[in-house]
Amino acid sequence: MFFYSFLVGTERVFRMAIRNYEASYKKYFPDTYEKIGKDSTHDEVRQLYDEWAVKYDEQIDAAGVAFHKPLSDYMNSFAKESFPSIPKDQLKILDAGAGTGPIGIELDKLGYTCVHALDISEEMLNVARKKGVPYKRFICAALTEKRVCEVETGEFDVVIAAGALIMANVRPEAFVEIVRMVKKGGLVCFLLRYNEVDHYEPKMTELEKEGIWEKLGTKKIPYFNQEDLPSYGHGFVYKVLKK
Ligand SMILES: C[S@@+](CC[C@H](N)C(=O)[O-])C[C@H]1O[C@@H](n2cnc3c(N)ncnc32)[C@H](O)[C@@H]1O
Repeated sequence: MFFYSFLVGTERVFRMAIRNYEASYKKYFPDTYEKIGKDSTHDEVRQLYDEWAVKYDEQIDAAGVAFHKPLSDYMNSFAKESFPSIPKDQLKILDAGAGTGPIGIELDKLGYTCVHALDISEEMLNVARKKGVPYKRFICAALTEKRVCEVETGEFDVVIAAGALIMANVRPEAFVEIVRMVKKGGLVCFLLRYNEVDHYEPKMTELEKEGIWEKLGTKKIPYFNQEDLPSYGHGFVYKVLKK
């Protein structure tokens, strides 16, 4: 039985490596998938998510989105070790690219109740507001290499980003600004698409070589449950060493 599961798992990973998911993405996200890419402007990205907001939850549910709980659990496992003396409800967390708030919901279930949301799209944040996701603050701003003036330097213990660090959205140059937002000793937890790690890795490595942060862990995280979409992404946790 174990050997069979191993073979099936291996086969799926192999298929993912050679497979092109374009058609499936178009099937599940028909009005949105092709509208933005790695060269889109932030105004184009904002407009897309503003329009998508009302049907976003329904569409990602239909696609079998699976990463919110596992990524939140992954962050939780490192946060408990890194901040043993800070109660969970006092740990100040930024959900970067929070969208309609699924990570806020998962973190709340885990006892993290001091979570702030940041997103480029006011309409995505409005959906989170209407759902009553208990964010302390809703910050509508673009995460880029530029300073987000609403966030103080070292304001957060943790920044978590789920589904936001994709090349069409938040690009690698934003890591420096994310680090600025986190206090020394704080954590940055994020998820990358299985096929986009190569785009982000050079910047991640550069920051590590400069002693800005150190990698605490990386793990495959379930991404979609549907057979015809990628089954996993790569979760990362870094510790900020210096500002
Ligand atoms: C794929 S959704 C993920 C939303 C949510 N984290 C989730 O897991 O469902 C990406 C989110 O990132 C936001 N976004 C895209 N580019 C951004 C940027 N440069 N700065 C901040 N938010 C951005 C979008 O508005 C959208 O809400």
